Amino acid sequence: MGNIDWGNLPFGYFKTDYNVRCYYRNGKWGKIEISSSEYVNIHIAATTLHYGQEAFEGMKVFRGKDGKVRVFRWEENAKRMQNSCRGIMMAEPPVDLFKEMMIKAIKLNEKYIPPPGLGAALYLRPLTIGTGPQVGVKPAEEYLFMIFVGPVGPYFKQGFSPVDVQIIHDYDRTAPHGTGQYKVGGNYAASLRPADRAKKEGFSTVLFLDSKENKYIDEAGPANFFGIKGNSYVTPNSTTILPSITNKSLRQIAEDLGMKVELRPVPETELDEFDEVGACGTAAVISPIKRIVDRDSGKEYKYCPDGKPGPVSTKLYHTLKGIQEGEIEDKHGWNLIIE
Ligand code: PLP
Ligand code: COI
Repeated sequence: MGNIDWGNLPFGYFKTDYNVRCYYRNGKWGKIEISSSEYVNIHIAATTLHYGQEAFEGMKVFRGKDGKVRVFRWEENAKRMQNSCRGIMMAEPPVDLFKEMMIKAIKLNEKYIPPPGLGAALYLRPLTIGTGPQVGVKPAEEYLFMIFVGPVGPYFKQGFSPVDVQIIHDYDRTAPHGTGQYKVGGNYAASLRPADRAKKEGFSTVLFLDSKENKYIDEAGPANFFGIKGNSYVTPNSTTILPSITNKSLRQIAEDLGMKVELRPVPETELDEFDEVGACGTAAVISPIKRIVDRDSGKEYKYCPDGKPGPVSTKLYHTLKGIQEGEIEDKHGWNLIIE
């Protein structure tokens, strides 16, 4: 693939050769289908179009310097997909089916796995949609689980360099007893308007507060939030945020590095006390934050005095990437090597 500029890929859609699909009909999952079409032909009354029956995942595949291809913590994504499906009453793709389709999707598009060392990865996007028709508000009886893939670069165009984010009070991503812990399309629809405004106002993304009291940090639009205070890694626990697999991994890495991990509510007022803050997720990896501005009060919280990512975020970033790319021992067994 001599014509792909691997080192300058955006985080976006990239046409590859194949995607894989599987229908759930009459109470069971069918045969895996391989498709080279970028389109899905669905019923005009499909529940995904009307009532938002849609859940997705995001995962990355890396080619190491040793030539091996690794998928990071796929089983966590498979289980989270099941949880999201359960949350909005969709059929749950079995973990084994997820694995088989994932391996097929990777192997069929092997030539799109970026070479190591350029900050790129093959992104996998599994999704489940309600394809059966309903006009009354009811779950569908038919579902389609698919995986498409594409090479991507960093989510925030700055890559591993600090970004500015905006705290907002006039939009919620999800309700206190809503769907925040599920990776469902509706949550992202709710985030589009505030995220677009934040971009126009010069920020990379928004930081949502908890929607009940509007007092605690919830998460960033496409990523979880963490702060470093002395030797502690602090990250919000809240029922309205997506349980990030990257964050879970960083908590383990922090512990392995001898840090204390605090999973607890993080009030906005505590932002003054952190040495470093960042956003983390599959797409975002670690995006260090250099400035947080509260859009209502105008209060600014500043980090990275020399304009560079802080030392702890840097260590966490390189350790995570090192494990994913096969440079650092995978002592927790997080990678699946695709033979
Ligand atoms: N929070 C939201 C809202 C996300 O969309 C994502 C991305 O998947 C994350 C957090 C990070 O989760 P993960 O680390 O599992 O990719
Ligand atoms: C991811 O990190 O994989 C995400 O899904 C975040 C965003 C692109 C929705």
